[in-house]
Amino acid sequence: MNVRAFMPVLLATAVFGCGPAEGPDALTNKQVTSPPSNCNAVCHSATSIISPDPVITNGSGSAGKHVAHVSDIGFDCEKCHLGYDSQITHMNQQPETGPAVTLVYFDSTNPPPALWTKIQGPPRTGTCSNLACHGTDTLDWYGTDTSSYQDCVTCHAYAISSRRQVVGAQGDFGGNSSIASHHVNGSDPTNAQCLVCHNQSTHTQGTVRLRHADTGASIVYDPADLTSLEPFCLSCHDSNGAALTSIGPSAFRPFAGSTLGQIPYLGGTRVASDWGKSYGHNQKGLTCMGNGSPTTGCHANGHGSSHVGILARNMTLPVPADRYIENDYDLCLNCHSSYTGVRKEDIFGVRFGGAYYRGYGPGFNFPPYDIPSIHTKFRDQNNRGTGYPYDNSSIYIDFWLWGANSVNLHWVHIALDVWNYRGAVPSGVSCTACHNVHGTNNPYGMTHDEMGYQHYVEVNGDQYSQLNSISPYLLDLHPMNCTFGCHKPVEPGFGQASAWFESANE
Ligand code: HEC
Ligand code: HEC
Ligand code: HEC
Ligand code: HEC
Ligand code: HEC
Ligand code: HEC
Repeated sequence: MNVRAFMPVLLATAVFGCGPAEGPDALTNKQVTSPPSNCNAVCHSATSIISPDPVITNGSGSAGKHVAHVSDIGFDCEKCHLGYDSQITHMNQQPETGPAVTLVYFDSTNPPPALWTKIQGPPRTGTCSNLACHGTDTLDWYGTDTSSYQDCVTCHAYAISSRRQVVGAQGDFGGNSSIASHHVNGSDPTNAQCLVCHNQSTHTQGTVRLRHADTGASIVYDPADLTSLEPFCLSCHDSNGAALTSIGPSAFRPFAGSTLGQIPYLGGTRVASDWGKSYGHNQKGLTCMGNGSPTTGCHANGHGSSHVGILARNMTLPVPADRYIENDYDLCLNCHSSYTGVRKEDIFGVRFGGAYYRGYGPGFNFPPYDIPSIHTKFRDQNNRGTGYPYDNSSIYIDFWLWGANSVNLHWVHIALDVWNYRGAVPSGVSCTACHNVHGTNNPYGMTHDEMGYQHYVEVNGDQYSQLNSISPYLLDLHPMNCTFGCHKPVEPGFGQASAWFESANE
């Protein structure tokens, strides 16, 4: 049958074309099993000599590589035969192989010097070289070679189809100089390090599979459901580290690099238990990974980002002391801007001209946002004077530090020069000094359990809060990591801290 003559018939009967150019190009997609015609029987059929089905015959019946690339991986024909369907040699009733015809035109994944070299047969031969995916190897297409399945980095130093570049200067790890300290610290990961996380059982078939760090079970990552990654992240960031997949000398050194649970990764082994607690972003509909927008997560991806903590948006950490710049807290404030009650104005605002309005915050500046009435409960008044049932001797009248009777305590503390970021790096105070964003059992403001932060109601209905009697001694330990024991009940602290927040008396 003359293929060219037959094509219009196919089209007229609304059978879809079977040229290699169309759609997702697996030939099997183009087969029409019912009359009037079987597309594959006409185009690239298993038995045709002039238009063989490459997946079945590989041209000659010898062990070729179409099965590996088309059937197994699902590559488009166009990856290697870019634009070939419109070449004059296509559908000219001549076999398409042979020295006269160039069949192979690589797409942009394999720019020059990627090379297809045809060699006169028989047997029919030809080699590929300088390919993005196979590095410097020269590979015989029709021969019995199997490609040395090279280091992950050989192929993933490039974007491949929809998959982003993973290693190298534009990658996600240390080979990218704009990425400082992330999963697998320092340089780009080795194969073995990639395989701590990746299950390769269906490699290249379109699904990212990960390895449960304790059982090795395959975890399918579904990009449409970001929570699908939670069991993976938490399997390692738990109290027993990577019990099964570690390649290091201990379960806590899964990549044979940094040790989870030790400075600066002290928090690395308690994320899972914190995430399971009663009050946290888990209960607010968040998950580990996302872009920092509502209902997603805070960590950019499984590899690394240009922000600290693999975060999706900026947190300046350590944060310079005595300044307040919104962008230093961009991750928190950006997402919170979608929720009344937790916006930056709710946290740092006061009523301009009101009782809380005076310069006492970072660098002794005025609170930055003017709102109708103060919102944060993290506020304090020290001016009740005498005549009240609870006067200046009351437990909730603190050391009068800023000369301000009424203060927004968020504004007082932010960027104050009294914090050791990750227990080691001198820093201005940031949000996570007090808040456990992964979760806590303390119902008040997602504060670290270890702070023992409590609310109390007085007989007259006033309310105050206090650091409980044992915890102030621990403020200088993980996870609060204060530099000084400011709130120790005894000197040199300022005494056990408490904060009167209700009524606001603005
Ligand atoms: C990974 C690269 C690659 C992909 C993907 C690929 N091919 Fe090929 N194809 C080749 C190479 C290399 C040859 C050998 C060319 C030669 O011998 O001149 C070839 C040869 C052919 C031939 C002639 C030899 C034969 O087997 O009959 C046909 C027809 C062909 N390909 C069709 C397709 C179709 C249709 C698809 C998509 C379903 C496809 N190819 C996908 C690389 C590829
Ligand atoms: C700490 C665990 C971890 C390590 C180590 C790791 N990955 Fe990943 N990788 C993930 C996770 C989780 C995803 C899915 C989420 C995402 O896209 O980041 C992923 C996604 C990918 C993707 C898909 C990217 C895309 O654009 O969809 C590729 C490719 C990949 N990893 C390759 C590698 C290679 C190669 C290495 C080693 C150089 C490596 N990974 C190391 C966890 C890891
Ligand atoms: C010979 C080239 C090559 C090597 C070596 C290689 N990959 Fe891939 N990888 C690919 C291709 C091609 C894809 C599919 C890209 C696409 O079309 O989506 C892929 C896809 C992936 C994906 C996305 C999910 C999937 O499987 O479709 C992950 C994750 C991945 N590779 C991880 C790795 C890791 C880890 C290693 C090393 C152990 C590795 N790859 C080695 C070529 C390679
Ligand atoms: C196999 C164990 C393992 C898995 C799985 C794992 N991590 Fe980690 N993670 C580590 C180790 C170890 C470190 C310490 C950094 C290092 O060793 O390079 C770390 C560090 C981090 C850090 C701090 C990074 C920094 O820049 O300081 C974050 C954030 C993090 N992981 C989030 C995640 C998220 C989100 C996931 C799931 C997508 C995840 N981890 C999965 C082992 C793991
Ligand atoms: C991806 C979105 C998102 C990000 C990022 C985010 N949060 Fe939240 N956060 C929320 C939501 C949603 C709530 C609940 C708001 C509500 O109750 O309406 C919340 C509430 C809170 C609360 C109040 C808890 C309570 O009990 O009142 C604190 C404290 C908090 N977040 C701290 C932080 C800190 C600190 C950061 C930055 C490290 C941060 N959040 C980043 C979404 C986010
Ligand atoms: C010095 C400790 C400390 C720091 C630093 C801190 N907070 Fe708070 N925050 C608290 C306490 C304590 C509460 C609980 C108030 C209450 O319920 O009594 C709170 C409450 C909140 C709330 C609930 C609403 C409110 O204000 O009552 C949000 C939202 C919040 N903080 C976000 C943040 C963000 C974002 C940062 C960083 C920009 C931050 N906090 C820094 C201690 C702190």
